[in-house]
Amino acid sequence: MSLEAVSDLWWKNAVIYCVDTQAFLDTDGDGIGDLDGLTQRIDYLGGLGVTFLWLMPIYPSPERDYGYDVADYYDVADKYGSLGDLVELVRVARERGIRVIADLVINHTSIDHPWFQKARRGHPLFRDFYVWADEKPPNADAGVIFPGKQEGIWSYDRAARRWYMHRFYPHQPDLNINNPLVRNEIHKVIGFWLELGLSGFRIDAVPFLIEQADPDNPAVSDPHDYLRDIRDFAGRRRGDVLLLAEANEPLDKISNFFGEHGNQMQMLFNFVVNQALYLGFVRGTAEPVAEALRSLPDTPPESQWANFIKNHDEASLDKLSDAERQEVFAAFAPKESMRLFERGIRRRFPSMVDGDRRRMELAYSLMFSLPGTPVLFYGEEIGLGDDQRLTDREAVRLPMQWSSEPGAGFTTADESRVPRRPLRDGPFGYLRVNTEAQRHDRGSFLNWMERAIRTRKEWPELGWGEWRILGARNPAVLAHVATWDGSSALAVHNFADEPARVTIRLPEDTREGRWQHIFGPTDGDAPAIEKGRLSLELEPYGYHWFGRREGV
Ligand code: NOJ
Repeated sequence: MSLEAVSDLWWKNAVIYCVDTQAFLDTDGDGIGDLDGLTQRIDYLGGLGVTFLWLMPIYPSPERDYGYDVADYYDVADKYGSLGDLVELVRVARERGIRVIADLVINHTSIDHPWFQKARRGHPLFRDFYVWADEKPPNADAGVIFPGKQEGIWSYDRAARRWYMHRFYPHQPDLNINNPLVRNEIHKVIGFWLELGLSGFRIDAVPFLIEQADPDNPAVSDPHDYLRDIRDFAGRRRGDVLLLAEANEPLDKISNFFGEHGNQMQMLFNFVVNQALYLGFVRGTAEPVAEALRSLPDTPPESQWANFIKNHDEASLDKLSDAERQEVFAAFAPKESMRLFERGIRRRFPSMVDGDRRRMELAYSLMFSLPGTPVLFYGEEIGLGDDQRLTDREAVRLPMQWSSEPGAGFTTADESRVPRRPLRDGPFGYLRVNTEAQRHDRGSFLNWMERAIRTRKEWPELGWGEWRILGARNPAVLAHVATWDGSSALAVHNFADEPARVTIRLPEDTREGRWQHIFGPTDGDAPAIEKGRLSLELEPYGYHWFGRREGV
């Protein structure tokens, strides 16, 4: 891979920041965050080191699933501003070297979408935009995505006098990608947003998008043809487009979504490693993570994993065994009310570990150094907690905490009246956790995060390199090295609550040159290396990164 490719495949070394616009900054005093708020805080994000902003859905929507129920693909919801405000955000971000992508939710629309309203009345053009059946299909109650809150995946529509399919809630009817008119419309949607300046999309629910592909339909006889088609189209419209897919699939299926030579989705969220991290954190051992990393399929050179600690949904533990899931629940979500959909946790990470700074640093140090591109969820940089008073997944989508002023610096509206009320009290309330206070505190989590991001960016080997797990002879410790273009970065993480002494045998090809300490909880000295072995004493939950470059 040449040096030119480094800037070309920009997503491989990006720092992604996912934001729920309505919870970030309210500039017009209506209690709802808006696009202007994001624009105002671009320098904050740039200062943090973010290079890539992912906007959760901003489309007009009845919001029965937080905007993942789109009622119009060609606009932004009034409460966020206008298309003009979006273009302004993209322009200002671009000036600061930040690219913007948005959620593309095309597996389904809202039931309120005019396409569905026309379809259910039998409109000749729109009728086949959705997936219908005359009789209730035999499997209608199986395969729900929101167990406990969703009864089946087929519902009867009185106007159509037929059944329609919805993999998610009944108000989210699935689009029919077998229909060329639907595929054409999706192309238009993609083209529209790229034309407005977006650099790509986070594509929602990708496995479900292609699950209805009809084997007799030559356009999608292999369902992955449709993903190749989307990628081709988007790439023709914008050469450096990035498609980041949500595909929480089993390991034997996941690499199909990258495609041969990476010709489908360039990035996939790494759910397998994410869930192994939770198990490792709870057990105080690195083994689940080492095992998960070893089990990953190879990624094509253009492709990349997206690593995260906590996303905008429940922390799903669906890939763990029942017993493992219970172990994580017991430690991180002891109350039933903290759990969701029988598989996940509706909390943010800092509150799962009671704000233990050492455990937070361990988690995010891993996120920034493991093979892949790191994805922050807004507020993670200050250790934002969650608000259990809010329902469902809103608990983790609470307002950003900018200051200790009433309204958390998020809004000037009366905070008792805003739709998502700022969290004032308690260990994670804005009186104690906010960006303003952390800016003034050299040792704050915000300042730690900035340093972590800077180091990560200075060592692109971590995002690009060929990586290997190294034997550490201590089950609590994960050691891995990433090597690229003759240089290496090595990271060592201790999952246990006690010190760990390790000796790591460096691979032959990484022994030349000078290793330096680049990141850790304390300023480290150059590592002790003798006869190709690196010896190290790690603090409880400690972590240290080392780097070695040829030449300067
Ligand atoms: C996955 C999204 O992450 C989630 O928030 C949403 O509810 C579903 N897809 C349905 O769009």
